[in-house]
Amino acid sequence: MSERVLKIGFVGAGAINFGRAHLPWDHASRLEQLGGVDVIGIVDLDEKLASSILEKRQASKYGHYYKNCKIFKNYRSLIELRPDAVLIGIPPAYRGSFAEEKDLELQFARAGIHVFVEKPLSVLPPEEFMTYAKAVTDTAKEKNVIVSVGYMFRYHAGILKMKELIKKHGGKVMAFNARYYFAYTKAVNKYWFNEDLSGGPIVEQATHFCDLARFIVSDVDVPSIHTLLLKDSDPGGAGHLAYIPQQYEEDISPERRIPRVTMSHWRFKDGGLGTLMHSVALPGTRYEANIDVQLDGLKLSLIEPYQKDCILRVRSINNEEANKDQDFTFPTDDSYLTELKTFLTAVRTNDPSIIESSYSDAALTYQMTWVIRRAK
Ligand SMILES: NC(=O)c1ccc[n+]([C@@H]2O[C@H](COP(=O)([O-])OP(=O)(O)OC[C@H]3O[C@@H](n4cnc5c(N)ncnc54)[C@H](O)[C@@H]3O)[C@@H](O)[C@H]2O)c1
Repeated sequence: MSERVLKIGFVGAGAINFGRAHLPWDHASRLEQLGGVDVIGIVDLDEKLASSILEKRQASKYGHYYKNCKIFKNYRSLIELRPDAVLIGIPPAYRGSFAEEKDLELQFARAGIHVFVEKPLSVLPPEEFMTYAKAVTDTAKEKNVIVSVGYMFRYHAGILKMKELIKKHGGKVMAFNARYYFAYTKAVNKYWFNEDLSGGPIVEQATHFCDLARFIVSDVDVPSIHTLLLKDSDPGGAGHLAYIPQQYEEDISPERRIPRVTMSHWRFKDGGLGTLMHSVALPGTRYEANIDVQLDGLKLSLIEPYQKDCILRVRSINNEEANKDQDFTFPTDDSYLTELKTFLTAVRTNDPSIIESSYSDAALTYQMTWVIRRAK
């Protein structure tokens, strides 16, 4: 039996939904690979950008998926078209809130439209945001709507292998250590440098690794989180950045500029310890990210999960030679594709249980990132 064709709407015609040179993400290209969809609308405040994106897509070999597609400035026009599902990929300052025009998730859910929404969930302080998160979750339940959040690493083959090996080892995680080094000198977005619009580097970027800490190990004992920041205003000058393009921080005072280094540690509810380091220092466009997890007799190092040549290096007491590493690679893995495929399957089968990142769970990651952000 052929799959039901799903009517899809996009909110946001920017990088996450339609791609940009050098960046690995682009939900539209994954949707085209999966097929079985009819893209009926693209919403963006910048209608010119949306029209040029649509023209390119229509002229490609996947043009047939866009033949009925209309451009809108406001998401309410998309609701009127009654898509089966929407992919929301606009900056967090324009969603995740009861404020007028920012309650998109809630409005789509109320209309019975399934939602895939990008991280981070909001820019509101979590005390305010949690009430909104509850409204979205309750509405989704009441309306039988899937709400999935864009924590794609939860579908990454390397992460799933780590979880499998941890389970097989049967031990508790003793230590989790994640490093995220942001390459900041090229192909960056101005709003990433403005905490009010993006939430800052932990809420916006390292959120993936806070989420993985929770996904791989367990929930975090929030009061145990302790964080040190290196700021631009540091008297020693170590926080000064000389290569920010196009004076992206010109209109932001040194005290309000994003932290150059964030070092955080905490205790997991399971008892183990976690650490996170985020830095803004690398040249170019290639970010570096690594995760180490240690159990008694087992070390798992996930090296560069954003890259195709990502490696999971394992050292285990169960190897014949305990000094030897065993490498796993995942050359054909595409976590963005698996994430979207899972979302479309959940929509078709009306089964939220296969979604790895629900709105209510992602709200806990949001809360954790805000505790780190609030460090002085
Ligand atoms: N999961 C990932 O790996 C990943 C990667 C990149 C971005 N993201 C997330 O996706 C979101 C968008 O990021 P981006 O890089 O695509 O940004 P972007 O600046 O490239 O695109 C955002 C688009 O949204 C439009 N927009 C802004 N407010 C709007 C509104 N109220 N209504 C309609 N359109 C509006 C802008 O005109 C712009 O075209 C962010 O939350 C970001 O964190 C996630």
